[in-house]
Amino acid sequence: MPASTSNLATIITGASSGIGEALARRLAAEEKQTLILVARRAEKLAALAEELQKAHGLRVDVIALDLEKPGAAQELVDEVAVRGLAIDTLINNAGFGINDLFIDMPLERIQGMVQLNIVALTELCHAVLPGMHARQQGRIMNIASVAGFQACPRFAVYAATKSFVLNFTEALAVEERKHGILVTAVCPGATKTAFHDIAGNHGTFVEKIMDSPETVAASAINALNAGKAVIVTGLLNKPLPFLLRLFPRGIATVVAGILVQREKAA
Ligand SMILES: NC(=O)c1ccc[n+]([C@@H]2O[C@H](COP(=O)([O-])OP(=O)(O)OC[C@H]3O[C@@H](n4cnc5c(N)ncnc54)[C@H](OP(=O)(O)O)[C@@H]3O)[C@@H](O)[C@H]2O)c1
Repeated sequence: MPASTSNLATIITGASSGIGEALARRLAAEEKQTLILVARRAEKLAALAEELQKAHGLRVDVIALDLEKPGAAQELVDEVAVRGLAIDTLINNAGFGINDLFIDMPLERIQGMVQLNIVALTELCHAVLPGMHARQQGRIMNIASVAGFQACPRFAVYAATKSFVLNFTEALAVEERKHGILVTAVCPGATKTAFHDIAGNHGTFVEKIMDSPETVAASAINALNAGKAVIVTGLLNKPLPFLLRLFPRGIATVVAGILVQREKAA
């Protein structure tokens, strides 16, 4: 493993695929900070770590962990400390959604979604901030979604978790600005990743207007470094928050549900 010139590290949750993997690739190419890749699939993380280390000559660590487990965030922070690293950049990207009626979703999946999308993300932010304050520097990127701007039938829980991420992160950005810490909520629109396989989101309108994870990652990193509190990625998505204000909430909610209705829903 190449020697690192500092103990400062960038941690990326959900780095084994999709947007997280694209963020890892871009950060490895653009920045020389040690990377810590986190997700459940250890073998995927290890392969990516080896590739990035070879290509860019930086230290890339792997921590395989299920962030849906209560207490996992603290476990992660403790493991980083054991490795002698300090978290300078936190990227909370791991997350999933389910396209289904709320009543039909298994309760354990709902609990896991809330634990991953909200609880682990919040606990990680809380754990890293004292160190960032002490160093008077740091960056936090939380991956929300355009779904965070809008209630969405069939994605009732997912959209609500992303509203939490969006509102929490915007507030945190204002609190932390005076401490020299950059905080950004990233709101991608539909992006071509395994998210849609896991969500059961095939045969919907949103599938037709997908961005690439690489495009999302590039916009996200630019926004973080520019100190933007919120970035909506993708040209088609950018006007969405503004347009939503023009419609009564009830109508916007019904339309959102239609856009994610599967063509052959049971
Ligand atoms: N794709 C879209 O259209 C879209 C749009 C807006 C926002 N987003 C958001 O973007 C983020 C990344 O999603 P993606 O589109 O890149 O989907 P993805 O390809 O399915 O990636 C999700 C990542 O999260 C990890 N993950 C899932 N459950 C986990 C758990 N319990 N513990 C630890 N890691 C876990 C997965 O790794 P393992 O399976 O190896 O654990 C994977 O690396 C999510 O927060 C998602 O909500 C996606």
